[in-house]
Order: sequence, then structure tokens, then C-alpha cells
Amino acid sequence: MSWATVSARGASRWATGHPWIYRSDVITHPDYAGIIPVRDDRGRFLGQAICSPRSEIRLRLLERTETPIDYAWWRLQFERCRHRRQEIDATAWRAVHAEGDSLPALVVDRYDRWLVVQLLSAALETQRDVIIEALRDTFKADGILLRHDVGIRRLEGLDEAVVVVSGEVPQQVEVREGAVRWYAAPWTGQKTGAFLDQRDNRLLAGAIAPRDGVALDCFSYHGSFALHLATKSRSVIALDASDEALARGAVNAAINGMDNIEWVAGDAFDLLPEWGRQGRRFDVVVVDPPAFAKSKAHVAAALRGYHEINRRAMRLVAPGGWLLTASCSFHVQRPQFMDMIAGAAAASGRRFTLHRILGQGVDHPEVVTIPETGYLKGVLLRAD
Ligand SMILES: C[S@@+](CC[C@H](N)C(=O)[O-])C[C@H]1O[C@@H](n2cnc3c(N)ncnc32)[C@H](O)[C@@H]1O
Repeated sequence: MSWATVSARGASRWATGHPWIYRSDVITHPDYAGIIPVRDDRGRFLGQAICSPRSEIRLRLLERTETPIDYAWWRLQFERCRHRRQEIDATAWRAVHAEGDSLPALVVDRYDRWLVVQLLSAALETQRDVIIEALRDTFKADGILLRHDVGIRRLEGLDEAVVVVSGEVPQQVEVREGAVRWYAAPWTGQKTGAFLDQRDNRLLAGAIAPRDGVALDCFSYHGSFALHLATKSRSVIALDASDEALARGAVNAAINGMDNIEWVAGDAFDLLPEWGRQGRRFDVVVVDPPAFAKSKAHVAAALRGYHEINRRAMRLVAPGGWLLTASCSFHVQRPQFMDMIAGAAAASGRRFTLHRILGQGVDHPEVVTIPETGYLKGVLLRAD
């Protein structure tokens, strides 16, 4: 059989705007991974899906009509993605945000003339050549790297290789983001080489930073917020646990001609309390930790971690200063994040007002009927 049949409950998923149909709602399906037509239990055509026979998420909607999924189809989808990102003031952005761009299990990040791609399902892997060709032609890419070193591929029975599949890809790529430049590390950096989801919030941090102030960028990676803060601040501390990221940060500062960033390697959970005890104060504090909750089971512990780090950070904000704080844990929902912020503020003994609710940039579209497309949440607060 070369199509799948789904239950009424399965069909209702697509009708209500979510592209996934789980194993329990699939009545029959082929035993191979690929793109297949899907019918309901009365034989009516519902759409075409990528089918992953080993995954709990067995079907993911790709196309609602019977149009062939070929080179021309992929080109059209990628052109739409490119169009959505036209206004971005940077040369690095997420070009395809999987389900957020109606292209399930496909992540593509663009660093200037190079692309980093992740094919996150066995079904997409069967389309690898046509996807790569259409991406190269749409984005005029000089080189395309597969960053397949992600655990989710193992669950699908796929390899985890990091390989070039088109042209050549340098170890480091210089990109521009607003007024600053930085090097991404597509081969070895965290995620696909940088954290592109925070771009708008980094630009915002640069905009609110007072001239000649002092700023602190906690969980800085390669100085992403710090560089924007440093365009106006007298001095900035960039704190991160990764020596590799901080080393690149120092190079990033140099290519911007900046000498006002101090690079500090260490654990934010140790250093923030220490700086608090020393009575240090900053006009802007940024808190952008890694995802503390990797699964639902970790949410309570993660919230305790977020509470602690935010409470510590709040104590470091000078009167009238700013705190830009975020969580990239999908499993920590916005209301829980807001409750955590309120609790941390109460415990800090400081009074903060809410100035902006923050999320992902336009290149990470968060679809309201697909909660899984949104994970980044944050707030911009001002201290009394
Ligand atoms: C979400 S990323 C930060 C991204 C960055 N703000 C940006 O916009 O590119 C989290 C960072 O926290 C760092 N990190 C993880 N645990 C840490 C800790 N306990 N103390 C300091 N840094 C830590 C990681 O090395 C990583 O660079």
C-alpha cells in the first residue's frame, strides 16, 4: 500500500491547523519512509504527508493538494520562506523554521552566502538531493553544510554526520546583524553555529542601552548581546561557561573595533551572587540561559533554576536600569515564565515594570495552532 489511512481523530488534527498525526490515529501506512498521500477512513483524500514509520509522529502534513512534490514545489516553498524574511536587517537568519514555515522537520539557517541544513525525519532524508538543489538555487548558496549531529536523527534511525553537500563551507562565516558584525561557527558552534532566534531582542538591547552605561550579558555565547550593548555602553561584561564561544567573542569584538567588552569564563550561578555581594550594579542586564527543561519532567526543576538566576540578576540592576531575560525551554510555557518572573521579582526585594513581552524573530514563525513552533519567551523589565 502506498498511502496512509487515518482515523477521524487523525483527520481532525489537520482540520484544526496542526500538521502532526500520531501513530495511534493512523489506521494503515506503508512501512517505508517517504512522501505519501493520506486518506480518511472513508477513502477521501486529505493531503500529502511525510511518513516516518519509526516515529510516534507518524505523519506530518506537507501539502493539502495532489500537486507533485518535486523540484518546482520545493523552489516555490523556499521562495515563500525567503519572501517572509525580506525585512530582516542582517545577513544571518533562519531560512526555514520547520513546521513554522509549513515544512515539517526541515531546519535551514543562512549565514551570508552559506546554508546549514538539518533534515530531521527519515522521510525528508529520501528527498535530500532535491531539497539541497532547490535550496542552493533559491538562496544562491556558495556552500551547504548538513549539521546532522542531533539526537533526534538517531531516533529516526538516521546518521549523525556533519558533511558538506554542495560547494564549500568555511569554518567561520562573518555576518552582519544591525550595526555589528560577528563570526558564526557553522561546523562546530552551538545549534547550527549561532543563536539566530534572539536577533530582534539583541537589536532591542542595543537600542535601550544608555550611552556610557555599564552592561552585563549573562550566557553570552560569542558575545551576541554584548556586541550590541557595547556600541553604546562604556563597558560590558560578557559571561559564559564556554571558552570556545568566548574566544570567538573576543575576535568578534576585534572585528567591530571594540575594546570595551570584558570576557569572563565561569558559571553564572556562582558569579551573579558574588557580584551581588560585592554590590555591583549594571544599567542593562541580559539573561539568556540554555534550555533548563529538556522535557516535561524537568519543568519544576527548570523553574527553580530560572527563579534563582533571575532573582540574582534582578539584584544587579541599577535603579532605572533594564533587565532583558528569556527562556528557550519549550516545555516552560509563557504563563509559567511570567509567574516565575513575578516570584523572582518579589524575592529580589526590587520593583520592576513590564516594558515588552519578547518572542522569536520573524524568521522563526510561531504558528498559533502549532505550539511546538514557539519556544523562546522573554520580557524586558525596568527597575524602579
Ligand atoms: C541560549 S545560549 C545563549 C545565546 C546568546 N545569548 C545569543 O544570543 O547568542 C546559552 C549559553 O549559556 C552558556 N552556559 C550554559 N550554562 C552556563 C552557566 N552555568 N553559566 C554561564 N554560561 C552558561 C552556554 O555556553 C551558551 O553559550
